[in-house]
Amino acid sequence: MNYAQRAAEKAEAVRRAGHARILAIETSCDETAAAVVEDGRRVLSNVVASQMETHALYGGVVPEIASRQHVEAVDPVVARALEEANLTLPEVDAIAVTYGPGLVGALLVGVSCAKALAFAAGLPLVPVHHIEGHICANYIAHAALEPPFVCLVASGGHSHVLQAVAYGEYRLLGQTMDDAAGEAFDKAARVLNLPYPGGPLLDKLAESGNPDALPLPRPRPEGRYDFSFSGLKTALVNHVHTLRQSGREVAAADIAASFRRAVVDSLASRALLAARETGARALAAAGGVAANSLLRRELEAGAARAGIPCYIPPVSLCTDNAAMIGSAGFYRLMRGELADLTLNAVPGARLAWSD
Ligand code: KG4
Ligand code: ZN
Repeated sequence: MNYAQRAAEKAEAVRRAGHARILAIETSCDETAAAVVEDGRRVLSNVVASQMETHALYGGVVPEIASRQHVEAVDPVVARALEEANLTLPEVDAIAVTYGPGLVGALLVGVSCAKALAFAAGLPLVPVHHIEGHICANYIAHAALEPPFVCLVASGGHSHVLQAVAYGEYRLLGQTMDDAAGEAFDKAARVLNLPYPGGPLLDKLAESGNPDALPLPRPRPEGRYDFSFSGLKTALVNHVHTLRQSGREVAAADIAASFRRAVVDSLASRALLAARETGARALAAAGGVAANSLLRRELEAGAARAGIPCYIPPVSLCTDNAAMIGSAGFYRLMRGELADLTLNAVPGARLAWSD
């Protein structure tokens, strides 16, 4: 039997049983991650090797260095994920991998590794969109959560308000008109001379600042649930430059707090509005920016006011990891959405929206 036949047979058997242990691989940016997840919800292992320290030396992710570090780390990280799950490769039921979006060289490392493992063990190969992975982190963290729900996804490269209509089916409600929220946080942090990655450090600094210190614009794009962050960023940059040029003190904590307040206002207000106006039964948040402490507080308070539950993964599942890819991969596998060995990295992959 050739690979395609073996993988198809295995996929069919797993679908009929409705159970699968999935080895998942994620290398889209600067974390080399592998995990084993059972039935989309139960994490048997979750290993993340971060390259953050290396990239911090350069003030941001250097794609070529990221690719090389993924090449070095991916085999040991996969081996550890299997070992911690107490499984060997033939004992898992499928391989899931992030195929995009992300840095092409980085993605290719994970995709190549996943294809090699799938081929070697005759296992089905499941392609996962990175943003869908972020959304599915909620299925791991919250046993009670089932679609439909409204979800705010905010990461380094994406900001969307969407409706998870069913497993693997999403309707776009709103999105950023320019920068992603994480990108805005990182740029603001850089202006304040905080080291990379700036988002979490700015969040921490903001806790001790006055959010009313600096009046910042609250842009209102045309779309009801859309955001825009580039004007906010420019206002901040101009303010800090003016202060520096005139030799005045830059009160970094106040500026961080004002900026965080403005970004979180936009994100939380649109997500809550969308949840209210679509009659959502639950609100969820996902992506690296969902680690933001003010955003978490605002979403939780807003959802409580609206009388709906609010689901946000713990911080370790908000930022990039492979467990979330294993969860998304399970639902894709159950829908029969597999890849063959021609799977390639797609750096600009878009999530398919339903109408
Ligand atoms: O989802 P993620 O780990 O990677 C991408 O898919 O992009 O998101 C990373 C982004 C970075 O921009 C980072 O600064 C931001 O999430 N981030 C935060 C916080 N933690 C991570 N932004 C604001 N507050 C945080 N606590
Ligand atoms: Zn991510």
